[in-house]
Amino acid sequence: MRRKILTTAIGVVLAAAILIVAVSMVELSGKQTEIWKNGEKDSLTTIGFSQVGAESDWRSANSISMKRTFTPERGYDLIFEDAKQKQSDQIKAIRKFIQQEVDYIVFSPVVESGWDTVLEEAKRAEIPVIIIDRKVAVKDSSLYAAWIGSNFYLEGQKACKVMKAYVDEQQIPEVNIVNIQGTLGATSQIGRTNALEDAAQKYGWNLLEQESGEYTEAKAYEVMSKMLLEHDDINFVYCENDNEAFGAIDAIRDAGKTVGPGGDIQIISFDATREGLRRTLHREILINGECNPWHGEYVEKVIHMLETNELWQKEMYVPEETFYSMPEDMQIMLGGKEYTVQTVTESIVQKREY
Ligand code: AHR
Repeated sequence: MRRKILTTAIGVVLAAAILIVAVSMVELSGKQTEIWKNGEKDSLTTIGFSQVGAESDWRSANSISMKRTFTPERGYDLIFEDAKQKQSDQIKAIRKFIQQEVDYIVFSPVVESGWDTVLEEAKRAEIPVIIIDRKVAVKDSSLYAAWIGSNFYLEGQKACKVMKAYVDEQQIPEVNIVNIQGTLGATSQIGRTNALEDAAQKYGWNLLEQESGEYTEAKAYEVMSKMLLEHDDINFVYCENDNEAFGAIDAIRDAGKTVGPGGDIQIISFDATREGLRRTLHREILINGECNPWHGEYVEKVIHMLETNELWQKEMYVPEETFYSMPEDMQIMLGGKEYTVQTVTESIVQKREY
């Protein structure tokens, strides 16, 4: 009799254990991922995120921002796909997210064009799409719920305005500038390039050459080395991110020239990474326009607003500063608005998260 009771009890315990293991397994097929915590059912919001790649320090920080915001502890299941700079991989990832019936699709488009079809598929599946960083050029803006990113044209305008002040102050008789562009067709490239072209026309700068450095150090080194062979009078280089600036600086030095105030060539850069700011503090980079990569928290806010029907603004800019290597802060005016351009200090560099 005692043996029978014991066998029954062991059976019950085993069955309960098997049940707990079974329900604890994450189920990926449903609209929301189901997990069990302390015996209670808990729903995670599933987010399919297609990242452009890992071309720059900025991009790595942007990926960290998404990964640390959308954790299971905070109520999310993040499916992260790296597109390795290929639009076709991003389209594949979005189609996979649709099949997986995620709750939200988030992506940073490598270029602006070519998204209509896949976004129509997401719309038919009734999955809201949130775009971050770069924009999409689509015929129907209802194909995405929201966009969060930088005002790339304004970043470029501010950098050019500071450059104009420097040129005037230093009484530089002629500006011979080359432009190492970002990934062609990306919103960040389009905005920053347009701002330079407009400033060059307005201020009479000679824009000698423009070529893409694909936002990478290696490509920028190659492009800069070539430009230096073709033009011996370059006195400014407008790099569209910090990694390009690092590559350009190496190429300039390898060609026997110097960078920074008092040197042969002045560097304009964007992102303001910790290394970019360190080089601005040490006057290798003259002007550094911040590009804010911390999109995760804003995406989360947008999701809350979509869930409570409180989204009143479809497109949102993240806050950004401009940094200068000269000893004094300066004020610049653009479109009737005043902006402070900060001189970089050691404490600004140390506080930089990436
Ligand atoms: O689109 C944002 C740009 O893309 C950043 O400036 C650059 O570093 C990145 O790769």
